[in-house]
Order: sequence, then C-alpha cells, then structure tokens
Amino acid sequence: MATMVLSRPLSGTCQTLLLFLLLVCCVLSPVSQGQQFLLRVQPQDPVLPAGGSLVVNCSTECPNPKLIILETSLLKKPVGVGPGWAAFQLINVTSDSRVLCAGFCNGFQMISSSNITVYRFPDQVELAPLPPWQPVGKNLTLRCQVAGGVPRSELTVVFLRGEEELSRQRVAGEPAQVEVEVTATVLVSRSDHGASFSCHTELDLRPQGLGLFENTSAPHQLRTFALPRTLPHLVAPRSLEVGTSRQVTCTLDGLFPSSEAQVQLALGDQMLNPAVTRHGDRLMARTTVTARADQEGPQEIVCNVTLGGETRESRENLTVFSFLGPILNLSESSAPEGSIVTVTCMAGARVNVLLDGVSAAAPGQPAQLQLNATEVDDQRSFFCSAILEVDGEIFKRNTSVQLRVLYGPKIDRANCPERLKWKEKTKQVLQCQARGNPAPQLHCLQKDSNLEVPIGIPVFVKLRYNGTYHCQAASSRGTYTLVVVMDVQGRNHPFVTIFMAVLVIVGLVTVTVALKYLYGAKRRGIYKVNQESSSLPLTSMRPMEAVAEEPSAAG
Ligand SMILES: *[C@@H]1O[C@H](CO)[C@@H](O)[C@H](O)[C@H]1NC(C)=O
Ligand SMILES: *[C@@H]1O[C@H](CO)[C@@H](O)[C@H](O)[C@H]1NC(C)=O
Ligand SMILES: *[C@@H]1O[C@H](CO)[C@@H](O)[C@H](O)[C@H]1NC(C)=O
Ligand SMILES: *[C@@H]1O[C@H](CO)[C@@H](O)[C@H](O)[C@H]1NC(C)=O
Ligand SMILES: *[C@@H]1O[C@H](CO)[C@@H](O)[C@H](O)[C@H]1NC(C)=O
Ligand SMILES: *[C@@H]1O[C@H](CO)[C@@H](O)[C@H](O)[C@H]1NC(C)=O
Ligand SMILES: *[C@@H]1O[C@H](CO)[C@@H](O)[C@H](O)[C@H]1NC(C)=O
Ligand SMILES: *[C@@H]1O[C@H](CO)[C@@H](O)[C@H](O)[C@H]1NC(C)=O
Ligand SMILES: *[C@@H]1O[C@H](CO)[C@@H](O)[C@H](O)[C@H]1NC(C)=O
Ligand SMILES: *[C@@H]1O[C@H](CO)[C@@H](O)[C@H](O)[C@H]1NC(C)=O
Ligand SMILES: *[C@@H]1O[C@H](CO)[C@@H](O)[C@H](O)[C@H]1NC(C)=O
Repeated sequence: MATMVLSRPLSGTCQTLLLFLLLVCCVLSPVSQGQQFLLRVQPQDPVLPAGGSLVVNCSTECPNPKLIILETSLLKKPVGVGPGWAAFQLINVTSDSRVLCAGFCNGFQMISSSNITVYRFPDQVELAPLPPWQPVGKNLTLRCQVAGGVPRSELTVVFLRGEEELSRQRVAGEPAQVEVEVTATVLVSRSDHGASFSCHTELDLRPQGLGLFENTSAPHQLRTFALPRTLPHLVAPRSLEVGTSRQVTCTLDGLFPSSEAQVQLALGDQMLNPAVTRHGDRLMARTTVTARADQEGPQEIVCNVTLGGETRESRENLTVFSFLGPILNLSESSAPEGSIVTVTCMAGARVNVLLDGVSAAAPGQPAQLQLNATEVDDQRSFFCSAILEVDGEIFKRNTSVQLRVLYGPKIDRANCPERLKWKEKTKQVLQCQARGNPAPQLHCLQKDSNLEVPIGIPVFVKLRYNGTYHCQAASSRGTYTLVVVMDVQGRNHPFVTIFMAVLVIVGLVTVTVALKYLYGAKRRGIYKVNQESSSLPLTSMRPMEAVAEEPSAAG
C-alpha cells in the first residue's frame, strides 16, 4: 500500500505532522479526480543479494501523469520512459533501503514506496576450538562465531553433534559486519568421545521466494575423559635388597578411555618400564624393580597416571639395603689335632650374626669362637645365621662350614681283638679297624714270617696262620701298631688227645707193673712186652666238635 508522504524521508515528528496536514486536507476538500489514481512501484519489497542491481518501474493508470521520479539514496539511472511509467536501474545495492516513486496527476501528488531488502551470506562461520580434553559429566560450552550475514532476522545458528541437531538460535545484533558469538552448552558424556561437533547458519529466505542458504563450520572432534579423584593403588615392597628384584604393581579403576591413559612408574630417579594392561576402565602397570647399589637408603616409588592432562600420583617409601654374608671363616680348614682353631662369622653393617648360638657383641660385629681341635671335632659343622631388620621386615640368611681335624692313626682295642682262636680249615673274618684323618692303611702281618692276613674279608684258616701278628695303621701322620695273637688249632679233637694220654699213662703203668714182675721173675727167664696201646686206631668224634673249646687245651 502506497502512502502519501513527501519524496524525502523525514524525521518521525515531521512525518506525523505532514500526515496530519494531509488528513486535514482530505477531510476538508472533496475527493478530486487526480486522487483516484495510484502510483505503483515494481517490484514491491524486493529481496536481492548485496551488490546486486535492480530495475524499479514506477507506473500509474493516470492518463496524463507528470514528473514521475524515483526518490532514492542509491545510484540510479533511467532505463526507460513510457506513457504512464518510468523505469530506473539501481546498481550496487549494498544495504537495505527504501525507494519512493513520486509524480503528479491532475495537480495532485502521488507517492508510493518499496522497501529493498539486501541479503548477504555470512563471511565466516566458525566453531571455536574445543578444549583438548573435556571431562565427562561437565558442561561444555560450544561457541559459534558468525561474521556478516544479513538479514539477521532470518539468520539462525544451529549446533550439531555429527548429524544430530543440538540447539538452534537466532543471531541477534546489528550491524552485520560485527562478528557475533552464539553459544550452546552440552553436558558431556562418555559417548561424546570422538564425536564431531560443528555449527552452521541458516539464512531462510524461503518466505521471500528465494530459498534456504546454509553455511557450515569446519567440524571439531571432542575428546572426553574420566579420571577418578582416587589415587592409583600402588603395591610395592617396603624394602628391597640391592641386586634383587621384586614386583611392583600400580592399578587405577574408573578410567575412560583407559587406552589413552599414560602410566609412569619410577624408583627414585630410575624410570621403570612397566607392562601395562587395560581391561575396560581398569589400568594396571606391572614390573619388577631391581635395586642398584647406588640407591641404598630411603627411596620413593612413584606411580602416576595421566589422562586428559590431569595426573593422579601415589608414592610409597621403600628402603634399599644391602645384606652381605654371613661369611663363615675357619682359621684353618684342616687343623692338626691339638691346634687352636678360630671360627669367625661376620656380615655387613647393621646385621646381627649368631654363630653356633653365640651372638656377636653388637650388630655389624663378627661373632667368634675358638677351640682346641680334637679328634671329635673332625667333620664338625659350624652354623652361622645372619639377621637383618629393615623397616620392620626380618631378613635371615645362614651358612655353615665343616672343620676337618687331622689326627691318628689309631686302632681301638674294642675294634680289634687281642686274641683269636680259630680252627683250621674254617672260614673266618679278621675284624680290625683303624681311625684317623687322613684315613690310615691297615695291615696285619705275622711277626716273623710277614705273612699277611687280609682284614675284613672271609679267609680260609690254615694252620700256618697260627702266631703273633702286628696290625699296623699308617697314614701321613704316623703309624700305630697293635698286637693280635692268633691261635689256630688242628683238626684233632682234644678228647682224643686226652684219651691217648690216658692210654699212654695206662701203658706206662702196665709197663712198670710188667717190669716189676720181670724183676721178680729174672731167674725164671725174660718176657717181651708188646706196646700196642699207643698205636691204637682212633675214630674221630665229629658230633662232639661243636662243644666249646677249653682254654687250657689251646695253650
Ligand atoms: C513499466 O510498467 C508498465 C505498466 O505496467 C509497462 O507497460 C512497462 O513496459 C514497464 N517498463 C519496463 C521497463 O518494465
Ligand atoms: C558498491 O558500493 C560499495 C560501498 O557501498 C563500494 O565500496 C563498492 O566499490 C561499490 N561497487 C561497485 C561495483 O561500484
Ligand atoms: C517499509 O519500511 C518502513 C520503515 O523503513 C516501514 O514503516 C514500512 O512498513 C515498510 N513497508 C513494507 C511494505 O514493509
Ligand atoms: C549444565 O548446564 C545446565 C544448563 O545449561 C545446568 O542445568 C546444569 O546444572 C549444568 N550442569 C553442570 C554439571 O554444570
Ligand atoms: C555460504 O553459503 C553459500 C551458499 O549457501 C555460498 O555460496 C557461500 O560461499 C558460503 N559462504 C562461506 C563463507 O562459506
Ligand atoms: C609422573 O612421574 C614421573 C616419574 O616420577 C615424573 O617424571 C613425571 O613428571 C610425573 N608426571 C607428572 C605429570 O607429574
Ligand atoms: C615416607 O617417608 C617420609 C619421611 O621420610 C614421611 O614423611 C612420609 O610420610 C612417608 N610416606 C609414606 C607413604 O609412608
Ligand atoms: C677368611 O679366610 C680367608 C683365608 O682362608 C682370609 O683371606 C679372609 O681374610 C678371612 N676372612 C675373615 C673375615 O676372617
Ligand atoms: C689342646 O689340648 C691338648 C690336650 O687337651 C693339650 O695337650 C694341648 O696343649 C692343647 N693345645 C693348646 C694349644 O692349648
Ligand atoms: C638356612 O638357609 C636355607 C636357605 O638359604 C634354608 O633353607 C634353611 O632352612 C636355613 N636354615 C635355618 C636353620 O634357618
Ligand atoms: C701256636 O703258636 C704258639 C705260640 O705262638 C705255640 O705255643 C703253639 O704250640 C702253636 N701251636 C701249633 C699247633 O703249632
């Protein structure tokens, strides 16, 4: 609808005043001919891109119009005039403006206007960079920066997660040249990890018959994380011996995404290289730590887990110690009998030693004992234990050493009989043992003949074994001799001998009686006496052999 105003845009007060005057004029004067005709502006309220050009046609039905002009602040150029119309080209239209067509019909002024709307796409649509890591459960503010873009009334900013629309907002604020920031908040969850966020603008000129124009920002990927307040669970020994290895583990639950979590383990300044395993939200670092000699003393084991730029750290105290010994020493490992042997046991500093029940005077001091080596000390073991306490932990170590005592040789009577009674042609064993270190050689030789009877093995007894023996034990430490008398008896039974002796006596008595008789009968002649009795055939009495021999008979 065309309104009757002056060809120049005037201030609001003036316009109102003018309208009032016109209204008064209309009321006062009757409707005239010229007022029946209207001036038309074509196109009405056009929308065109910024910098574009446009032909504006002012036309009227008035049969005799005069002075049809176009009032505008824009550059204009007449492009045609006809009966009842005049056309003008507007070039380089860069901003919204209002044009007025004015003319006269029968002395009456006709005025019509048209509002030109310029549209321009945004010069810039950008999503502000996201934080490198966003904690889960916290609000994230998305910022979309828009520069340019008119008309603002038709411009909307839309925030997107992937394809999903998160929020939609009008862009407020003029002038269009200024950059504006539109924000939206999202509560971040684990599922947002790796999601792509973007914003886009919509310039909706569909009501103007043009269409929907979209400009989209570059997408940004979000990385989210969850790191609990709790500290890593660090399991480490309280003490560690130099050169030994112990296991250390460090665990933390509730991590998301655990694959992105970094874990570091260190003993003092020694970085450890743990094997890291991840199961769901759990991260576990495991390694064996070996203490170096230069780390002796109080140390700290540190485990820290870093995720999303945040770190959780646990520390444990650990004492690195060295435990030397025990070293058990004999002044002589092979001591001659009767010599003094010193046994020493010692260990490192702060270590308590206990040598065969004898405790050292103070920790770190050696324990000692002395003895006059005797035969019974040969192969005696000395036992030394070392005890070290580190931070309430007890460490024990022991060692033993064996003493050799050089003695002998000796033969005990108990192991070697003084007198043996053996029967000829039987099997017997000569039992005789010698002692000594080094072990002596033992030989039993017959006194005169040097006949040797083997020891410890069965021998077939011969009559010539009868005699006195010198059993001699010999080692590098000397000799020792013991006499053994061996009585070997022949096969004849003693009863037979007695019987024969009785026969001899009987024979002698018989002879004596016979001689007396012969003396008395000499005058009557000489008698010959037959002495058969001594050569009587004897039978052996085998069954009787088992009967114990009488010592007197053996002589
Ligand atoms: C202007 O409008 C009139 C009447 O509608 C028409 O006859 C004429 O051709 C138009 N001129 C141009 C340049 O479009
Ligand atoms: C259009 O107008 C703008 C200022 O409004 C000016 O900077 C620009 O140079 C003009 N363009 C042309 C093609 O005349
Ligand atoms: C044209 O703009 C003026 C203010 O600039 C406004 O009063 C008028 O209603 C507008 N006309 C149309 C048809 O939109
Ligand atoms: C996140 O923002 C919403 C409003 O945008 C608010 O209601 C909510 O409490 C906020 N949550 C947190 C955790 O800040
Ligand atoms: C905005 O989108 C339009 C089409 O929708 C395109 O012609 C223009 O180049 C885009 N502007 C920017 C800054 O990307
Ligand atoms: C984690 O621990 C290691 C070893 O102590 C250390 O070097 C590193 O600086 C720590 N990291 C952080 C973030 O504290
Ligand atoms: C480690 O030792 C220091 C003193 O040496 C002590 O202050 C600290 O509390 C100890 N830390 C732990 C975890 O026991
Ligand atoms: C132990 O004995 C060896 C020789 O047998 C000697 O060199 C060493 O010094 C001794 N050590 C002690 C602690 O007596
Ligand atoms: C060791 O003991 C023996 C016998 O008891 C003695 O004869 C010897 O003199 C002792 N040795 C020393 C060094 O005292
Ligand atoms: C001595 O140490 C060994 C291992 O080194 C151990 O098997 C043994 O039981 C220990 N003996 C004693 C009496 O402590
Ligand atoms: C055996 O020897 C002893 C003396 O050593 C001797 O008296 C005895 O007659 C001998 N016996 C035999 C049967 O030779």
